[in-house]
Amino acid sequence: MARKSLITGSLALLLFVPQAWASESVQEQRHDLMETAKDAAKAIGGMLKGEQPFDAAVAMESFSTWENVAAKAGDLFPEGSETGYDTEAKETIWTDREGFDVELETFSMAVTNAAMAAPQNVEELKAAAGPVFDACKSCHEGYRVEDQN
Ligand code: HEC
Repeated sequence: MARKSLITGSLALLLFVPQAWASESVQEQRHDLMETAKDAAKAIGGMLKGEQPFDAAVAMESFSTWENVAAKAGDLFPEGSETGYDTEAKETIWTDREGFDVELETFSMAVTNAAMAAPQNVEELKAAAGPVFDACKSCHEGYRVEDQN
């Protein structure tokens, strides 16, 4: 009996989890995705500032997080999601989609290049991550509402 309820229990969990995901708004999803981009940036920033010792694996992990951001961000700004969840998305994303896509592509290429460079010391990390940070900034300048944080 106990065994049966355990199985039923995990089945319920399996059914529940994807639904929880699906009910998360795109505004919330892109917020969460950008938060992962920020955490990855912090890890790299810490190494560049000498607050953390250089670690090649940590750098690669950040690049991989950014690759995920680059792959998913494009789908998270559909028509109709201009407002909601305190979004910081600027209306230019929808009035100038082409420009936004270019920014995303530039970011994506910078991340791919950084991962291919596979930096082995702080100097190399700086060279690899610099263009990525530039791409974050450039996109935010054009397509994100003036910063609160
Ligand atoms: C192609 C455009 C683009 C790129 C590239 C980009 N961002 Fe963003 N970012 C946005 C937009 C648009 C928002 C606002 C999203 C919203 O609030 O709906 C945002 C929001 C954020 C936020 C705030 C999260 C929130 O919603 O409160 C952080 C932090 C952030 N980005 C960090 C980064 C970092 C770090 C990078 C680079 C590693 C990066 N972003 C690259 C467009 C971009």
